[in-house]
Amino acid sequence: MLDVNKIRGDFPIYHSDRLFVYLDSASTTQKPQVVIDAVSGYYSAYAANIHRALYEIGDRATDAYEQVRIKVKQFLNVPETHSVIFTKSTTESLNLVAYAWGLKNLCQHDAVLVSEMEHHSNLVPWQLIAEKMGASLKFIPLSDNGTLNISHIDALISSNTKLVSIGHQSNVFGTVNPVKEIIAAAKNVGAVTVLDGAQAVPHMTVDITDLDCDFYAFSGHKMVGPTGVGVLIGRTELLEAMDPFMGGGEMINTVTMEKSTWNDVPWKFEAGTPNIAQVIGLGAAIDYLQSVGMNAIHDQEQSLLNYGLDVLSQVKGLTLYGNADDRGAVIPFNVDNVHTHDLAKFLDTDGICIRAGHHCAQPIMDHLGISATARASFYLYNDKNDIDLLAESIEKTARIFN
Ligand code: ALA
Repeated sequence: MLDVNKIRGDFPIYHSDRLFVYLDSASTTQKPQVVIDAVSGYYSAYAANIHRALYEIGDRATDAYEQVRIKVKQFLNVPETHSVIFTKSTTESLNLVAYAWGLKNLCQHDAVLVSEMEHHSNLVPWQLIAEKMGASLKFIPLSDNGTLNISHIDALISSNTKLVSIGHQSNVFGTVNPVKEIIAAAKNVGAVTVLDGAQAVPHMTVDITDLDCDFYAFSGHKMVGPTGVGVLIGRTELLEAMDPFMGGGEMINTVTMEKSTWNDVPWKFEAGTPNIAQVIGLGAAIDYLQSVGMNAIHDQEQSLLNYGLDVLSQVKGLTLYGNADDRGAVIPFNVDNVHTHDLAKFLDTDGICIRAGHHCAQPIMDHLGISATARASFYLYNDKNDIDLLAESIEKTARIFN
C-alpha cells in the first residue's frame, strides 16, 4: 500500500488543518508541489516563446517543452516521438481528429461507431462531423451493469464503418472497456481507431504500442498535472495525410499571399504559441506519477474501490450503479429521497468533495432512467478513512432528508 500521509505531504492543498476529503479526481486532480514549481519555475526563470526566441532562455524553454514530448513517448510506450501532439485538453484532441481526419475522410453512407457510454467529448464532435459529411453514427450498446455489450460487434461494424472511437475507462462507472477486442474488430474492416484515455492514463499503465490504436487522447489535469494541457497521440502516417486543424503561426512551412504549406508533424497541429508552462507542468506530473509507480497507484485504487463498494453497499437507501469486473476507482450512486446536488452540498459542509450530475454523459443517464448520480472517485492521495467519512456523512444527510 502507498504511504498516503507521505503522498499528502507532496500536495499543498492537504497542508492545512481543515478536514479535506477530496473524492472527485475523475473530474480533476490535486497538484503536487513539484508540478506547481515546474509551472512557476518556467514563468519566473525562463519565460520565453519556443521554437523562435533566439536567446538562451528561449532555447531552454524549447528544450523543456520538447523534452516532455519524449517523456510522454516513454511513459506510454508510443512508437515515435513525432506522434505526440500537445493540445489544451482531451476534448480538443478528439475534436482535432474529428475535424482534421473526419472532414477529409468521411463521406455520405459512411459510419462512425462510438458507444452509448461515451463522455460528451467523444460523442458531440462525431455528431457534428457526421451531420456535416452525411455519415451516420452507430453505437455499441450499454448493458445495465455499466459494461459495453460487444457480443454483436461484428454486426455493428461493416465495410461502411470508417472510424471507431471508444472511451478506454468510463468516467461514470469506472468500467475499463474491452478496447483490444474493439480495436481488433475495427481493424478487420480497415476502420481507424480512436481511444479516449482521459480516465485511463492517470490510473493504469497504458501501452500505446500494445494497444495498436490509431489515435489516443488524454488530459494533464486528471493526472496531477496543470489544467490547459492535453495530448493527442496519432499514427504518424495518418497525421501526415491529414490537413491542419487550426491555422496560424508555427504550423506552417511557407506562406504566400495566396497559399501556405505545412510544418512537419507534430508541429503542423500546434498552431500559435502553445501552452508552454502547462506542457512543462505535465512533464513534472509524469515524473511524479512514475516516482510513485503506476502499478502501485493502480493497486491502491483497487483496494479503495473494493473497500468503497463494501462500505457504501451497507448504507441504507443507497443505490450503486455498475459492476464491471475490470473497473477503475469510480463509484456512482444515488441515495433515496436526496437529490444528488443536495447531497453534494451537504457533504461539502463536512469537508467532503464529490461530483453530482450527469457527468457529461447524458445518454448513460437516459439508459439508467435517471437524471443524475452522485459519484465518488479516488486517487493516490485517498485512504480508507476518506471512505468511512463519506459513508458517515451520507448517512447523516439521508437522516435529515428522510
Ligand atoms: N469529465 C470529467 C468528469 O467526469 C469532468 O467529472
